[in-house]
Amino acid sequence: MKVFSSFFLSIISSLFLFSGVMAFQQQSPDQNLRQVTTLQTGWTFAKSNHPQAKTLDFDDSDWEQVSVPHDWAISGPFIMDGDGSTAKLPWKGQGWYRRTLDIPADLGNKRVYLEFDGVMAFPKIYVNGELAGKWDYGYNSFYLDVTEHLSPGGENLLAVHADTRQHDSRWYPGAGIYRKVQMKIVNPVHVDIWGTYITTPIVKPNYADVRIRTTVENKTQNDADIKVEQIIYSPGGNEVGRGDITPTIKANSEAQPEVTITLTDPQRWDIDNPVLYTAKTLVYNGDELVDSYKTTFGVRTIRFTADNGFYLNDRRVQFKGVNLHHGHGPLGAAFHPRAMERQLQIMKDMGVNAIRTSHNTAAPELLELCDKMGLLFFNEVFDKYDEKAGITDTTDFDSFARRNIRNHVVRDRNHPSLFLWSVGNEIGDVQWNVDNGFQRLNTMVSYTRMYDPTRPVTLVNDQTEGARMRHFDYYDVHSWNYNRRYRIARQMEPNKAVIISESASTVSTRGFYEFPLPDEHTYFTKSLQVSSYDLNAPWWAEIADDDFMWQQQEPYIAGEFVWTGFDYLGEPTPYANNQVQDMGMTDREASRSSYFGIVDLVGIPKDRFYLYKSYWKPQETTIHILPHWNWEDADQDTIPVFVYTNGDCAELFLNGDSQGKQCKNPKSETSVERFRLMWDDVVYEPGELKAVAYKEGVKIGEEIKKTTGEATKLKLTPDRTAITADGMDLSYILVEAFDAEGNAHPLSDERVNISLEGPAQIAGVGNGNPQSFEPFQADYADLFYGKAMIILKSKHQAGKVTVNVSADGFEGDAAEIVVK
Ligand code: GAL
Repeated sequence: MKVFSSFFLSIISSLFLFSGVMAFQQQSPDQNLRQVTTLQTGWTFAKSNHPQAKTLDFDDSDWEQVSVPHDWAISGPFIMDGDGSTAKLPWKGQGWYRRTLDIPADLGNKRVYLEFDGVMAFPKIYVNGELAGKWDYGYNSFYLDVTEHLSPGGENLLAVHADTRQHDSRWYPGAGIYRKVQMKIVNPVHVDIWGTYITTPIVKPNYADVRIRTTVENKTQNDADIKVEQIIYSPGGNEVGRGDITPTIKANSEAQPEVTITLTDPQRWDIDNPVLYTAKTLVYNGDELVDSYKTTFGVRTIRFTADNGFYLNDRRVQFKGVNLHHGHGPLGAAFHPRAMERQLQIMKDMGVNAIRTSHNTAAPELLELCDKMGLLFFNEVFDKYDEKAGITDTTDFDSFARRNIRNHVVRDRNHPSLFLWSVGNEIGDVQWNVDNGFQRLNTMVSYTRMYDPTRPVTLVNDQTEGARMRHFDYYDVHSWNYNRRYRIARQMEPNKAVIISESASTVSTRGFYEFPLPDEHTYFTKSLQVSSYDLNAPWWAEIADDDFMWQQQEPYIAGEFVWTGFDYLGEPTPYANNQVQDMGMTDREASRSSYFGIVDLVGIPKDRFYLYKSYWKPQETTIHILPHWNWEDADQDTIPVFVYTNGDCAELFLNGDSQGKQCKNPKSETSVERFRLMWDDVVYEPGELKAVAYKEGVKIGEEIKKTTGEATKLKLTPDRTAITADGMDLSYILVEAFDAEGNAHPLSDERVNISLEGPAQIAGVGNGNPQSFEPFQADYADLFYGKAMIILKSKHQAGKVTVNVSADGFEGDAAEIVVK
């Protein structure tokens, strides 16, 4: 290990080059070679401990029928005086899952693997009553060869015990089998799980070398003379390269044969052009074809420079990134690919080009989506393990780090979207080298590089003065959270690139406004909501505009990752339990979800969405006025009005009277003056506010905000009107209150009743109110500042679904969704 790490330290310089890679497995259509089954249905579940549940004859007839992914805690109920930092939900405890495995009678000498993408927490896997394996990190993927425990042709029982009692967390972690489980049946000579590693050691304008290393297992008693054939298909599906190798693998062992294939004029994977190649790996044992395995990958180059940020395919790309937690609001931690895809679409609409997964191994589908959608990916494995969560077995740190980093890196290293590995977030003792912290840092960085030497590695830091200890000598890129903390590290080591790995931490509640405007960004009232003028942040953090300004002033910075894209369950700063206590309130008043999101818990944009969009998408017209204009009691009071626009000036009119023209001041040292237009004292009268925006003197558009009439109608807007009958697909249906003229009402807080006809279910409801303790699984939803969300989920049945909503004194609405 020593030789290895010193080699890598020696190649760190002000400019480092990394070539592109890429990939994810797909099922082979050839069931005889490789049979992949997702174990989604047919599970039973019970909370608390049932030690006998692992045995075949245990009676689970009164257990709940569930499908996986599953989060046992998201249905609540909320524990009102519980800990808001983990959402006041009942996630602590034990749970058991049971399911039969369909094992063919003629299994012969095939091998059977079970692959789990994430079980919270400390899963123990039993097959036919025997312990087949366990794992000690709830966020990671792992797999087991369970063949020896099976009785082919007989009844086979899979039982999973999940136990969160020893897990600790700074946010809502979820509970149970919250990501997918697959069973893979393969021939005794086969490609290992995550068994291909594809790199592109040479990428030139007119050719690229694609190197495919394949881990082939020989689980027979004889040496095997095999042939591994690699066929590469272009993004359009044409064969563009082929090569093979014929090694011998000893009995009961594995080999890693490598084939390099040159592609001429390869298409580059890019955020604007996310094209993917496919490698098909065929394994022959003698003359017999025994396995077929697909990997997608991309051809691209990445490079960090110390003084000029990050380059993708030799073009500078500034990270316009967001941090995303692993949860999905009302769905909890239960991973639904469509929920993830929607998160990414909403972020892309705002101009995001990069995602940091905070702070743990993500669902594998997230990287597949980033590959396909053209998003860069910052892949983090651990959070500050010395405080909560994450690493639990510090008695044998080396082996804990090795097995977890191995799975984290080997699973993900083929994705072209992935540009950076992070070994952890804000790990205090590592930053201060307490108890040999640097040795642990070196262990984590070295294992990461051992499994993937093609990408840079970082540690995410928050301890400004800790930089003087020079932990950055162990890794490649400076990553710092908030408040220009990167400056000491950068000064001490100017030959490394800088990323603002967490920026902003601005807090706000969608739809809620308080004035006068705060003098300090840390000023919070007892309202238990945070004003949406986007001027508030906790003491360690800043507002969005500050980070924009710092990047303008220090152009070497490679970009930022905003904390956070979406609100998430838990961490309800500034209304966590200790914070409300400091304000003289009790635990019951503490909130249950964050205020950090640029969009709320159900994905509805807050005002800030338009501030980021106006800056990140300068070519697209954005004109957004805040606040709303329904201030019944405010006649003749003064109200601050802000406009977020990509224009450089705007004129504001109230009922036709000009309130003056404001222009951004790109030289101002007060960041908000560079990026927003502000009228501090508009004298309120009901009616119509209009902003007319200009760019370089030319009008680019106008926007109107009206005082609405009374809310009288409900309106449903589904994001998708056709979904798939796979028991997983989702339609997010926005519910809004409108007045008679068709204006969305900004204050309505009605309870809306929901009824369904047809083959679908309500997977969740919610509204983005961090103070709501209504259930996420219900047949009603409360509007919050005029809006709420219904998440509709398909069953395994096609048909037409009608969603009806009604509320007292309102005209209802219906939406039709086709399930195919
Ligand atoms: C950071 C931390 C995040 C989150 C954030 C809130 O220091 O890395 O996980 O807690 O603060 O501002």
